[in-house]
Amino acid sequence: MYQLLFQLLFRRMDPERAHRLAVGWIIRAARVPVLRTYLAAFLAPRHPELRTEALGLRMHGPFGLAAGFDKNAVAVDGMAMLGFDHVEIGTVTGEPQPGNPRKRLFRLTADRALINRMGFNNEGSAAVADRLAGRREVFRTTVGVNIGKTKAVPEQEAVADYVTSTERLARHADYLVVNVSSPNTPGLRDLQAVDQLRPLLTAVREAADRSVPGRRVPLLVKIAPDLADDDIDAVADLAVDLGLDGIIATNTTIARESLGLTSDPAVVAETGGLSGAPLKERSLEVLRRLYTRVGDRITLVGVGGVENAEDAWRRILAGATLVQGYSAFVYQGPCWSRAVHRGLAARLASSPYATLAEAVGADTRKPV
Ligand SMILES: Cc1cc2nc3c(=O)[nH]c(=O)nc-3n(C[C@H](O)[C@H](O)[C@H](O)COP(=O)(O)O)c2cc1C
Repeated sequence: MYQLLFQLLFRRMDPERAHRLAVGWIIRAARVPVLRTYLAAFLAPRHPELRTEALGLRMHGPFGLAAGFDKNAVAVDGMAMLGFDHVEIGTVTGEPQPGNPRKRLFRLTADRALINRMGFNNEGSAAVADRLAGRREVFRTTVGVNIGKTKAVPEQEAVADYVTSTERLARHADYLVVNVSSPNTPGLRDLQAVDQLRPLLTAVREAADRSVPGRRVPLLVKIAPDLADDDIDAVADLAVDLGLDGIIATNTTIARESLGLTSDPAVVAETGGLSGAPLKERSLEVLRRLYTRVGDRITLVGVGGVENAEDAWRRILAGATLVQGYSAFVYQGPCWSRAVHRGLAARLASSPYATLAEAVGADTRKPV
């Protein structure tokens, strides 16, 4: 059904327009009580064996929506209705900003991939904080808040910009993510260097503790798949050293040539971050490397090219407690999360593990 809709409608539309249209439908459906109850019962059936405890939070399962889909937190309940166990909103920046000029989102259908150079188009942390404060929760879900740097803010003032967003948003976040890995804000990825990352994460931690005195908001960092292996190790060591709660691996990649892409070369050549199937192997590799380094000391979130239950299961076995996806939702539609959950439950049942928690990292722990 969705395949037909995709072929007949979305595929012929500009991808950003298609996104807006789809999000509009999801929001409207989630506002109609009978409809949303019916849709949630069908699209988000619960599997008690997949219940997950991570970051000190209880979730219906391990599978969430990655950042970038709902930048302004307008569709949290809608995405929960579609079965996502957590919804990471953002990236939100200190100031509102329009993002890059259009066209800035491209489909690579033959590769089941996307290229985007959105450039953190968002309403800014003050507006998003107001929206989250006014949210009347319809479906219980975990809300992650992903923050990034305002483009117009000079690099020397980046820390202050993240701190501003933290002060506004931390109290509304079940967990907070420092995004230093988008390729579409000049200089942002340089913040992954440990000498820049340490003061940034320290300041955000302090700001979160200051602004939410009664609760320790879990803090994670999201990294790029393009980091050299030594830099991945350095971020992992820093995360342990700072007592960070988690690492999200990975964001989109700027790589192209090594990925064997078959889509129109003119589209492949577009500037921006590539996501979806071609990112799968590298994201998994980064995750495995992180798990080898940090083990169970830090919660790992696996994202990048997750298309189905098998991919999600492989992330868990590689060391991820939580798994996220974005691009495959564009290609597979509203039944995607249901299929991932069913497949995960089946894999767990036929595995030697009694719980998902037992399966986390099982492959990486095996002697090779
Ligand atoms: C259109 C688009 C916008 C994105 N925007 C953000 C963002 O604002 N912040 C962020 O941390 N990641 C962003 N991402 C990256 C995703 O969260 C995810 O890390 C990446 O797409 C890999 O997952 P996937 O292969 O399942 O799509 C974006 C991805 C896409 C496709």
